[in-house]
Amino acid sequence: AFVSLLSIVIAYLIGSISTSTLVVRWVSGRDIRALGSGNAGATNTMRTLGLKWGVLVLIFDGLKGAIALWIADALTPHAAWVLALTAVAVVVGHNWPLFFGFRGGKGIATTIGVLLWLAPLAAVIAGLVCLAVIALTRYVSLGSIVFVCLVPVFVAVFHFEGWTFAASIVLALLALYRHRSNIDRLLHGTERRIFDRTSEGV
Ligand code: G3P
Repeated sequence: AFVSLLSIVIAYLIGSISTSTLVVRWVSGRDIRALGSGNAGATNTMRTLGLKWGVLVLIFDGLKGAIALWIADALTPHAAWVLALTAVAVVVGHNWPLFFGFRGGKGIATTIGVLLWLAPLAAVIAGLVCLAVIALTRYVSLGSIVFVCLVPVFVAVFHFEGWTFAASIVLALLALYRHRSNIDRLLHGTERRIFDRTSEGV
């Protein structure tokens, strides 16, 4: 039980390393949470600093998820429930980071990282649909929402494993909760599009 708890605490701490906040502070000296959408994530880094930095944050925030699960798997091999709780803990850390006043991101990059570890086929297929949605609409938030909603369906179809399914549901609920303002803007037609130089915050 101690190592299980340790895995979960380590995951929360890894998640709490807010890559976008650090990168934007280093590169521009500003607080990303006061720029663009105000979100500490890869999309808003791209909006603020450009594509290259956004992709860098996406990769690092995704790695946080994979690294947290790698550590959990090493500490408690074959414990599906520990992996599921670790997956949720690293995303909670990203969204509500201990080191950054509990003001973090929406957890999508980190969710992609944990899902590539837990349910790779589901993550890749949902990821392709997500990319198509973003390419067609230029709404990253809509792509993210479609992604997190599709993953549990694909986990049920391709991977069925109870704890992974439960984790994918909790991750979807967390992501929907964090996208409340995006959902509101999407419904009102005021959501920011990517690669749009006229929208506020770009
Ligand atoms: O992953 C976050 C993305 O879905 C939306 O980010 O900055 O447009 O709210 P943002």
